[in-house]
Amino acid sequence: MSSILQLKHVKKYYSMSQNALKFFSSSLTIKKVIDDISFELAEGEVLVLAGESGSGKTTLARLILGSIIPDSGDIYFMGKNINIFKKNKIFYSLIQMIHQDPYSSINPYLKIKDIVMEPLKIHSSNLSYAEKENKVRIALSKTKLEPVEDFLEKYPNMLSGGQRQRVSIARAIVSSPRLIIADEPVSMLDVSIRAQILSLLNDLRNSLNISIIYITHDLATSRFIGDKIGIMFAGNLVEFGDIDEVLLNPLHPYTLMLLDAVNFSSLGSNIYYKNYDNTNLFDIPITGCKFYNRCKLSSTECTNDPPEYKITKDHFVSCFYHKNKSI
Ligand SMILES: Nc1ncnc2c1ncn2[C@@H]1O[C@H](COP(=O)(O)OP(=O)(O)OP(=O)(O)O)[C@@H](O)[C@H]1O
Ligand code: SF4
Ligand SMILES: [Mg+2]
Repeated sequence: MSSILQLKHVKKYYSMSQNALKFFSSSLTIKKVIDDISFELAEGEVLVLAGESGSGKTTLARLILGSIIPDSGDIYFMGKNINIFKKNKIFYSLIQMIHQDPYSSINPYLKIKDIVMEPLKIHSSNLSYAEKENKVRIALSKTKLEPVEDFLEKYPNMLSGGQRQRVSIARAIVSSPRLIIADEPVSMLDVSIRAQILSLLNDLRNSLNISIIYITHDLATSRFIGDKIGIMFAGNLVEFGDIDEVLLNPLHPYTLMLLDAVNFSSLGSNIYYKNYDNTNLFDIPITGCKFYNRCKLSSTECTNDPPEYKITKDHFVSCFYHKNKSI
């Protein structure tokens, strides 16, 4: 399988006033929102990105989409550096995004036909209206909004949340993208229809050979769709690899913490981490392992940045505790 996406040492930092209430304060602190992330995704593969709120998942998505620029590091899409590829407008049709909220992400005043046609109007101005409409019909049919004739002329407020998310997916696939980034696409939907939307994304990846980055808080359902998983904590990818290997043999204390939160593992693994107030994500050490304050396994060497240890050919962890297990 050839590589579709490659990130090499990508960093994105923001300067923040140390105390928002001190309006005139000149004291700035650097927030390392994305802090040296590297990974590779193959064509047709699904990567699940998981981590608590504020860990940098959406920022990483925006970097890949080219809507923000890294401070350092490189992103390659289909073998080309996106800084250069972005100058060709075809780039924007090849990566599409599905957002969390199917209510605010589609224009309520447009008919479904026009919503799904939007990317074609921007990227395929060479096509006739009839050709664009034909592509819209195919996209609606692939997302199971059938009979298609019943949906073309409808407005979003005539559809359920699940149907609206199918419209977002139809809009995402209509321009034949190679990569879709789905940012928590089912979290606002009724639990009963989440599995149907996940199953649809899975079918589309198989039938269209599209790569997907699936962003979620929900580790319990991620195995259903993912091939690989990346666990993010405070801008770092702390564990990465084949999804079965990572979820069945989790190594980073933070992965164990996330799995305990969904009762996935029965390891009693809170011997590895301290319960911690989630709102304090950025109350983290300035140097060394960012998980230090929450970790029960820490040693003096954890005041240095942990390197990435390769545990098997498909499983990596950034934690000193596992260095003797690496190959
Ligand atoms: N433009 C910006 N300026 C300053 N800080 C920012 C900016 N964009 C994002 N951040 C901060 O970066 C951190 C990561 O944000 P991001 O939205 O990527 O997190 P997330 O993992 O997607 O969280 P959630 O699960 O809540 O969606 C947050 O603390 C956020 O406040
Ligand atoms: S590197 Fe050290 S502090 Fe960080 S998770 Fe591993 S053992 Fe804990
Ligand atoms: Mg987000």
